[in-house]
Amino acid sequence: MIKLDISKATQFLPQGAVEKYADRAMQAAKALEDATCAGNDFLGWVTLPTDTDAPFIDKLRECSQTLRELCDTIVVAGIGGSYLGAKAVIEALSNNFLPTTPQILFAGNNISEDYLFELQELLKTRRFGVINISKSGTTTETALAFRLLKKQCEQQRGKEEARKVIVAVTDAHKGAARITCDKEGYTSFVIPDNVGGRFSVLTPVGLLPIDCAGFDIAALVQGARDMQQATASTVPFEQNLSAIYAATRNALYQSGKKIEILANYQPKLHFIAEWWKQLYGESEGKDGKGIFPASVDLTTDLHSMGQWIQDGERTIFETVISVEQPEHTLAVPTDEENLDGLNYIAGKRVDEVNKMAELGTQMAHIDGGVPNLRIIMPRLDAYHLGQLIYFFEKGCGISGLLLDVNPFDQPGVEAYKKNMFRLLGKPGY
Ligand code: PA5
Repeated sequence: MIKLDISKATQFLPQGAVEKYADRAMQAAKALEDATCAGNDFLGWVTLPTDTDAPFIDKLRECSQTLRELCDTIVVAGIGGSYLGAKAVIEALSNNFLPTTPQILFAGNNISEDYLFELQELLKTRRFGVINISKSGTTTETALAFRLLKKQCEQQRGKEEARKVIVAVTDAHKGAARITCDKEGYTSFVIPDNVGGRFSVLTPVGLLPIDCAGFDIAALVQGARDMQQATASTVPFEQNLSAIYAATRNALYQSGKKIEILANYQPKLHFIAEWWKQLYGESEGKDGKGIFPASVDLTTDLHSMGQWIQDGERTIFETVISVEQPEHTLAVPTDEENLDGLNYIAGKRVDEVNKMAELGTQMAHIDGGVPNLRIIMPRLDAYHLGQLIYFFEKGCGISGLLLDVNPFDQPGVEAYKKNMFRLLGKPGY
């Protein structure tokens, strides 16, 4: 199981500051399970891992098998919760340099003309399929990209053949994506009513693209299932990782730490941090409250953001995701000339150098007044990613309730849309 070490954060807090939240954190965990808290119509994610059975996984695999046979490239159209989870898991499990087979591309997460033009150019040389993901089915970014992709796919393959390689993941009944998919006869999967976008990675929203990329979704769900059990409200606070994480970050927030930086030492975890930022930012940033979730890739960003973290305003704390075992083995070679002066680390694993950089950074940041939490992942594989995802989701639900906000709505997201629609002359705005 993944572990959580808060000892280097509690040293910045008064004695008992984390434990002070224990009862409320466990009540929040129970309220999430009993659906008695704010936002209780969006709690389907709590039992998703145990609700996802083998026949359902087989159904997803059947669909991805067809796409894998007919396509060398699959474009996932979606934004926010409708893409970040899939992108995060696929990137975390992929080779750093090689695309998966089929290659998974993402669109509909921006409105850049150049992005869409260049995507179209690339797709002219590809046998591509599309997974159109939108819960509301009306999100402008996604709908615009899908309109372009649908037309191009039909032009390149013909309408009949295109039908076989376009799949929709959307609401069961409403929205333009559902209407189009029913009219065209696409294969479709439903996003449950009671699962919000940012909590939907373990629904077909995440599972279908991840399976198309060739990764083990059964192991991912199993990891989440084990973490569901390990963070249940029946597991005492002292052993309940999500409750401890939620309590610690709230104690730090109350002590003036307004920014949480999620740090990693593996470039493959970059998009896990992007997914996490949405999860916590959209869930907690409301009613004039909420920790600002930021992220850095280390050691890379020590050479850009390191100065600020070490020495800037002391309103931050850091949560590090540390992967214990790399997948591969590589040692630093000896060099007779030693012109670079690196022979003092010759023979050591590159990962040992990375781990010493991690430890040295932790010590420096603690000296610099930055509380440090550490999440330890034994390996970067589907099973432990499933654990990590559920750990963060449960922690987010508990943390939002401790903060006294509804973690499952996002009223603020509408503001820009209304202005954009008015500016574009959309009827009714
Ligand atoms: O978490 C959320 O609810 C949002 O980020 C949505 O996922 C995002 O806005 C996309 O919405 P939709 O899936 O309706 O296109």
